[in-house]
Amino acid sequence: MPRNQSKATADPAFFDLGLCGPQRSDLAGRDDLCGMFRTPTLRNVALTAPYFHNARFATLEDVVAFYATRDLDPARWYPTVNGQVQAYNDLPALYRGNVHQGAPFRRAGQPPALTVQDVSDVVAFLRTLSDGFTTAPAAQ
Ligand code: HEM
Repeated sequence: MPRNQSKATADPAFFDLGLCGPQRSDLAGRDDLCGMFRTPTLRNVALTAPYFHNARFATLEDVVAFYATRDLDPARWYPTVNGQVQAYNDLPALYRGNVHQGAPFRRAGQPPALTVQDVSDVVAFLRTLSDGFTTAPAAQ
């Protein structure tokens, strides 16, 4: 994810590394897991913005467009400093090799995985996952 502005990230040394901490400590030392986050359910996802572990995206359109273009057009998502795109800037450089490359992400030179129309079609699908329940069923 691109780094988000928050109380925690006001400290440039703070990184939420997901499975390897700092909120949890049971997998501390598993450097291969730094930057890994739980895959969440998409049930009711249209109702639960903002998205991703650091709440960086406010819309499902951004989520799906990010999936389709993160590695094709990183400058769209990450800041550029001194002419260098700061890809994966919410992870210390040491762990950036942990970021998965490949489906659903495409690299520069490959055709985009999704057209703009595809993005809005996928978002329309995600909106069908709202179940309409507003209260928990009564206990049996
Ligand atoms: C078209 C295919 C996909 C769609 C539409 C999709 C959609 C989403 C959405 C909407 C979220 C945000 C959920 C939330 O914050 O409540 C999400 C998060 C996530 N998805 Fe996907 N996803 C797709 C493919 C994948 C694939 C292939 C993987 C694994 C290889 C994956 C792994 C994850 C993970 C780990 C998160 C949580 C990341 C974080 O919190 O930073 N997704 N996805």
